[in-house]
Amino acid sequence: MDIYRLIMKHDLIVMVDLEGELENLIDRAIILKKQAKSEALPELLKNKSFALIFEKPSTRTRISFEAAIAQFGGHPIYLNPNDMQMGRGETISDTGYVLSRFVSGIIYRAFDYRNVVELAKKSTIPVINALDNREHPCQIVADLMTIKEKKKKFKDVTICYVGDGNNVCNSLMVGAAMVGMNIVVATPKGHEPDLAYVKTAEKFASNNKSSIKIMNDPVKAVKDADFIYTDVWVSMGEEKLKDKEKDFDGYQVNMNLVKKAKKNVMVMHCLPAHRGVEITDEVIDSKYSIVFDQAENRLHSEAAILLHLLEV
Ligand code: CP
Ligand code: NVA
Repeated sequence: MDIYRLIMKHDLIVMVDLEGELENLIDRAIILKKQAKSEALPELLKNKSFALIFEKPSTRTRISFEAAIAQFGGHPIYLNPNDMQMGRGETISDTGYVLSRFVSGIIYRAFDYRNVVELAKKSTIPVINALDNREHPCQIVADLMTIKEKKKKFKDVTICYVGDGNNVCNSLMVGAAMVGMNIVVATPKGHEPDLAYVKTAEKFASNNKSSIKIMNDPVKAVKDADFIYTDVWVSMGEEKLKDKEKDFDGYQVNMNLVKKAKKNVMVMHCLPAHRGVEITDEVIDSKYSIVFDQAENRLHSEAAILLHLLEV
């Protein structure tokens, strides 16, 4: 048996780690947002440091975590793995053992999900997945927070994801199904989301009496959408697959597609957007777009995630 698993601590590696906790976490994030705008925040992270290890670039995730930690009196330490011994072959497990002696939590963006799992297993402090090739759970907490702010509920709300069946799509399907939203996913053939994530989302949807549909027709998919969500067609780490983009003809979120959805549909994108590729300027800068509210909510939802995992 691996003795390190005997230490009780709370990680966020995959969306299902928030099973039974997600709605409370979202509500806490909404409260923290109001609090942050109206009063001084309590120093709940005082004397605590956090390591942020980013193997890939980041604007929102890195800066929102750094700012959220600072807001509560904590100290973020940004680390590029190339400047660490990890970059010269020190194992993930030794890195986990050592960082656990220094800091109160690790936020890790990785190319390979197996390294995130390994770090979580070998650390005695909470580890947060800041995006890997399979999931992006922190993003989806912010997205669901944004939806709750706009609609005040999840039941009978439909979100339609159009584009690549990638890490964001996987976490979105599971997260949306966990809170009881209806979800429709439209991807080109061959770019559907991982079946394991579809099955997990189906299980939650069935428990919550909501629906999940996977299809290859974006026009049909958006028909009853309250929210249309898209993401890049070529994710970080896939740059060699640039040719992939040609499979996405017809999947651009443009005004033509938006007009096929409900009249008051809202458009979401986790950002960074490739304007003119998966989404047009006309849409992202329109009254339909809530992408910058979504981005702002990264700050408040990262704060809620940290406080929740640290149980403060
Ligand atoms: N949405 C998101 O995770 O953005 P970054 O890559 O800038 O962190
Ligand atoms: N799917 C994208 C999300 C970026 C936030 C990627 O992995 O690059």
